Amino acid sequence: MLYSEKVMDHFQNPRNVGKMEDASGVGEVGNAVCGDIMRMYIKVEDNIITDVKFITFGCGSAIATSSIATEMIKGHTVDEALTLSNKAVVEALDGLPAHKIHCSVLAEEAVKAAVKDYYDRNGIEYDPELFKDCDNCDHCPKG
Ligand code: FES
Repeated sequence: MLYSEKVMDHFQNPRNVGKMEDASGVGEVGNAVCGDIMRMYIKVEDNIITDVKFITFGCGSAIATSSIATEMIKGHTVDEALTLSNKAVVEALDGLPAHKIHCSVLAEEAVKAAVKDYYDRNGIEYDPELFKDCDNCDHCPKG
């Protein structure tokens, strides 16, 4: 079986799909090679991510990784969300085929971009190093 049950579940029943009108931060990332686009919305209250939504125009793995990423950051602090790695996302899904690892990179980047937007909107200072991968990102497959 190419895809784990978890991947199939999150692809077929994605959690937290949709738009968020009153988001505290929105991150949109894309991959120029496959053309997939992921948009992540976070609602932040007292430094806690109280709600997350996503819209992904992309492959099944991109949908599954964004879905599980929303579950992994919801209820956590903004700082914790920043530590979410694409590796953790892949592990939480019980693995992805090698040529689909880049989809999980997109999920990590979307979360980071949403947090960065939240920081920027609120004038919260941060270490630019935290987002240096995003700034240098040409949205090409890394995995
Ligand atoms: Fe590009 Fe999945 S094929 S994100």
